[in-house]
Amino acid sequence: MPPAPCYFNLMTLFLLSCVPPKRYLMLTEKMVKTLNDQVAMEGYASFLYLSMAGWFDYKSMKGCAAFMYRQSDEEHMHMMKIFRYLLEMNAHAVSPGIKQPLVEFADVKSVFEETLAHERRVTKSINDLVELAIEESDHATYAFLQWYVAEQREEENLIRTILDTITLIGHGSQSLYFIDKEIEAINQAEVAENGKSKKNEE
Ligand code: FEO
Repeated sequence: MPPAPCYFNLMTLFLLSCVPPKRYLMLTEKMVKTLNDQVAMEGYASFLYLSMAGWFDYKSMKGCAAFMYRQSDEEHMHMMKIFRYLLEMNAHAVSPGIKQPLVEFADVKSVFEETLAHERRVTKSINDLVELAIEESDHATYAFLQWYVAEQREEENLIRTILDTITLIGHGSQSLYFIDKEIEAINQAEVAENGKSKKNEE
């Protein structure tokens, strides 16, 4: 006579087949969280620069506004680059909540001082991420982050140059027109430069 089926084992097999297989992660959980925090930081930068663009536009400083609208778009691109990287590495990319950025500024110079301060915070955060990638021997993330290391060096240099220009012109009310024209020219040079590097990537 064949042995009676063991219902306990059959039930165990059935239950096991219902458990979804554990997702294979190409990043550690700590790295996923830290990269998602960076997504939030880049998203905040995008809204901070949008807020600055609105402040300039409201004051009819169209050159400075154009500069900040472009910076805002760039930060959105920085955010999406990490968002897509997380997904490419089989991890959950999380859309950040909107944190209210600053909306009032004392004067033109203080807007760019705040921009430089924020860029320095981003540089520190990127450097911390690079350190984590080294600690975890995560070569893919280390290589991915090198683009951000170069980008931060360029951005800090750009904003410092603008602050030097404002210092040279002087930032009293008589100087606003000239500051706006200078920053408009810097912005157009950036647009041309970005267009060139995009073409080289194609
Ligand atoms: Fe993407 Fe300027 O930090």
